Amino acid sequence: MSKKVLMVCLGNICRSPLAHGILQKEITARGLDWEVDSAGTANFHSGEAPDIRSVKIGLSRGVDIRDQKARGLVVADITHYDHILAMDTENYNNILSLVDDGHLSAKVEMLLNYSHPGQNRAVPDPYYSGGFDYVFDMISEGVQAFVLQHTS
Ligand code: 4NP
Repeated sequence: MSKKVLMVCLGNICRSPLAHGILQKEITARGLDWEVDSAGTANFHSGEAPDIRSVKIGLSRGVDIRDQKARGLVVADITHYDHILAMDTENYNNILSLVDDGHLSAKVEMLLNYSHPGQNRAVPDPYYSGGFDYVFDMISEGVQAFVLQHTS
């Protein structure tokens, strides 16, 4: 079944571009009829390429995110996408603040609740503190669990 998935973090330059790229690779490899994009709850990096540290860790793991461009989340995203996956609790709350409808808010979930159900774990923001390899692994686990759950 066709699915539209949006990955969301704060700046859309570190975490959500990796989630987007990892899911895009799975979609292509599995021949799925899915759409994926990513966005940030803040738009201060709009139009920028992903952070070079995300680009490098992606390339080292076979995920090329160099053609992505950052953009801010807009209200229309909440109606367009079927699944809106937040990297951390702040992102999750910021997304929900745009939604005033219970049906739509059910689309918003924490990505890592797929790999670690019910724990509301966050993908830590690596912009200042680093840890891009660890962040890649966490995101990848969440994405793989999401794909598994929605294809079986
Ligand atoms: P992201 O990381 O939300 O994973 O894209 C960040 C990028 C930029 C900033 C913070 C987090 N910033 O403060 O500019």
